[in-house]
Amino acid sequence: MVSFHSLLAPITTLFLAILFNVSNAQLNATFYSTTCPNVSSIVQTVIQQALQSDPRIGASLIRLHFHDCFVDGCDGSILLDNNGTLRSEKDAAPNTNSARGFDVVDNIKTAVENSCPGVVSCADILALAAESAVSLAGGPSWNVLLGRRDSRTANQAGANTSIPSPFESLSNITAKFSAVGLNITDLVALSGAHTFGRAQCRFITNRLYNFSGTGNPDPTLNTTYLATLRQNCPQNGNGSTLNNLDFTTPNTFDNNYFSNLQNNEGLLQSDQELFSTSGAATISIVNTFSSSQTTFFQNFVQSMINMGNISPLTGTNGEIRLDCKKVN
Ligand code: HEM
Repeated sequence: MVSFHSLLAPITTLFLAILFNVSNAQLNATFYSTTCPNVSSIVQTVIQQALQSDPRIGASLIRLHFHDCFVDGCDGSILLDNNGTLRSEKDAAPNTNSARGFDVVDNIKTAVENSCPGVVSCADILALAAESAVSLAGGPSWNVLLGRRDSRTANQAGANTSIPSPFESLSNITAKFSAVGLNITDLVALSGAHTFGRAQCRFITNRLYNFSGTGNPDPTLNTTYLATLRQNCPQNGNGSTLNNLDFTTPNTFDNNYFSNLQNNEGLLQSDQELFSTSGAATISIVNTFSSSQTTFFQNFVQSMINMGNISPLTGTNGEIRLDCKKVN
């Protein structure tokens, strides 16, 4: 029998959702189909061009989308430069001397403005760039949900606290994902983006020489891989020297990241923890993605959509920035 309460609860929820505009169906794949029908191919063309001289740029661009979405939602806030009143997220610890690709975002924005002035947000450009980056590197393609608008503010303090650090425990990182509505399947799938791109020595030297103050390397690090990494990152060497996040296929989007973890060849502590934290629920997900690239790709696409849905500004909130670096 259907009780009065079982009927009332969903109706109440729906009413509250409409009242407070928290419905999740805000973005859609056809948002620019009349106002800027070629936006995806414009974005893709600029990235293709940039890849000619910088095979790393796709990786850098998807990372910008991640660092944008984790701080007050996917609202282009990471792109804003400092000005008199605004403290840029670019200067937050996870981004400074690390986040890159801003010049390419500007090139994309210029190309998009030339075709469809004042229509496409910088936040949507980051989401589209992330998809192009993945598909151009051999990964899956998908229909990007669109309709985000750009913030008029940045949150440097939020960037410092909300973006996970590579030195954090799996439980802390899981908590930061959970805080933005992402679960451990999202965590493992999205970490698979470390199948391409680079990381600086300063993010791994503790693992190589003095892990947790032991004076020894991280015991979960494969010894042959350790020797290779020590050569590239000598003690007291240049902390900004680069390492491939996936040493097997550095510029290709595939599932080798997960077999690397199974072989104790994850680059960052936060990577290896997904497989080496005893009893963790993430282990079986790593195994699944390692054994089936198709399953990894399907989950990756769903998790990118989940991440792209974090608190977008829509409707009349925010603005369509004309220059991604500054508010209108
Ligand atoms: C799970 C927590 C994560 C941590 C702790 C983390 C940490 C890092 C660190 C430390 C770097 C190296 C930065 C540098 O050397 O300057 C990096 C690079 C990168 N991250 Fe993550 N990341 C995480 C999740 C993600 C997610 C969810 C994505 C995208 C979906 C992503 C995509 C990338 C890419 C593609 C690069 C290479 C960027 C480049 O070459 O410019 N990461 N990450």
